[in-house]
Amino acid sequence: MSTSKILHEANPSAEWWRTAVIYQIYPRSFADGNGDGMGDLIGVTSRLDSLAELGIDAIWFSPFFKSPQKDAGYDISDYRQIDPLFGTNQDFDALIAKAHTLGIKIIVDIVPNHTSDQHAWFQAALTAPEGSPERAYYHFKEGKGKNGELPPNNWFSIFGGPAWTRTTNADGTPGQWYLHLFDSTQPDLNWSNPHVAQEFDDILRFWLAKGVDGFRVDVAHGMVKREGLPDSDSHDATGKEYNISKMAIDEAEKRVPYWGQPGVHDFIRRFRSVVDEFDDRAMCAEASMSPLPRLAMWVRPDEYHQSFNFDYMATPFEPAALKKIVTDSIVEYGKVGASSTWVLSNHDQVRHATRYGYEIEIPKAGDGIGPDYAQPDEAIGLRKARAASAFMLGLPGSSYIYNGEELGLPDHTTLAPEFREDPTFFRTNGERVGRDGCRVPLPWEADATASNGFSATGKSWLPQPANYRVFSRNLQEGVAGSTLELYKRLLKERKAFGMGAGEFRWAEEFEDKNTLAYVNNGVLVLTNFGPEPVVVPAGELLVTTQHDLRLEGELEHDQTVWIKL
Ligand code: GLC
Repeated sequence: MSTSKILHEANPSAEWWRTAVIYQIYPRSFADGNGDGMGDLIGVTSRLDSLAELGIDAIWFSPFFKSPQKDAGYDISDYRQIDPLFGTNQDFDALIAKAHTLGIKIIVDIVPNHTSDQHAWFQAALTAPEGSPERAYYHFKEGKGKNGELPPNNWFSIFGGPAWTRTTNADGTPGQWYLHLFDSTQPDLNWSNPHVAQEFDDILRFWLAKGVDGFRVDVAHGMVKREGLPDSDSHDATGKEYNISKMAIDEAEKRVPYWGQPGVHDFIRRFRSVVDEFDDRAMCAEASMSPLPRLAMWVRPDEYHQSFNFDYMATPFEPAALKKIVTDSIVEYGKVGASSTWVLSNHDQVRHATRYGYEIEIPKAGDGIGPDYAQPDEAIGLRKARAASAFMLGLPGSSYIYNGEELGLPDHTTLAPEFREDPTFFRTNGERVGRDGCRVPLPWEADATASNGFSATGKSWLPQPANYRVFSRNLQEGVAGSTLELYKRLLKERKAFGMGAGEFRWAEEFEDKNTLAYVNNGVLVLTNFGPEPVVVPAGELLVTTQHDLRLEGELEHDQTVWIKL
């Protein structure tokens, strides 16, 4: 028997969000109920049963609020209205009611860092004079240079180009500049203005009163900027961004005056106190904070319940690196009483089935893969993706699944430029193709329509690549060995054995340098990273990515097995 120490104690009474499997719906691409080629809420409601069958605990919706859709809905012009593109507020009420009947919780996406430039607050600010209370909702500043012709500081937009845009006064003369860490249509809110915080208290209460079970908080690390908006020291002389995850916390805070500023914690606590007015609700931060001890500060007991573990997502499918990140995550989150989250894909990243199809380094997260780039080895990508998901879903904590990964979907890596919508593509003149490749509508029924059942008319806002047909849900339903059946089985056993809150230790007695093994509540999870096959230990075979596996047979490379010891 092993002496590996227990890293995570069993906690059967854990709150739902500590153990939940949360399925991310990208509303544009999940299911189209009205045939216009754009996913919508009635489409989701009509497909909820299939998510219940999958065995998820909650759904997180990327934004579906009123929006000019310059950044696919992350540019909100009214936080209390569903965008007509996706339906009505009544459609949402019907959706949440049905989801709750099925035992599925609903998490909505709140975007507090910025609004759309079409939001009433920004429109009022534009027409109000300099120094007015309306302008104080945002960051308006005089430009530098003799005539204010230069941006107020040297910050870059995440999507490329400067983070400032100059306004034009009513008389046609050039005016002040406003800050936007993302697109110029996404002005950053000024959180040092108490009115902004009050507005968001009310927005949170509005959705909580509608019965939502929680929030995913967008760009949570960007809300607070250092006073005076000083120049950043985030890029070297060649324009390359420093890796702040390798820096001491206070150095990182100083160099990048818009990420992870200490003042943000006051607002996190404020959000938390609003959410705590209601029973059993939770918040997850999108905080690109690294290293883990820095991120763990965001999930202290009176702050966020969860934060995405992006360091895990960025870890290659490789045993030593994975072992380290899993250990560090459980330990660091554990120190503040939080549970870790695990995630492999989302709407901003190349899907893991595509990432793992490369042996070369691929463009950084968010830059995407286009037709001019080397193409992935799809078969190996899918094989590793399945093994990686089976490894992830046995870990204690909460796991996120991005819609379509349960089908094994890859990115669309040859999307033609005329279909691109991501602002990254336009702000870099196509140099970074952006995130559209991971946002393509899902295939439901092969050949049912031109979009494989995504919409009854065959329309789809981004075209599916030819290879999506074979991933259609109906071709996988009930088919032994399919990725869909694999996910169903993983979620079922995960629940049956209480692995979300289980007692976890590495099972070094089953490991060598090409394998990883852990035991969670009596279930051995073993992944073989290859190249040689390994003998499967004795026990009861619960689930495997290798369809033809037999007990005491051989587990091939890039496969995972769950065994009840
Ligand atoms: C987050 C979202 C991303 C969006 C950005 C600006 O990173 O996940 O999709 O573009 O924030 O809101």
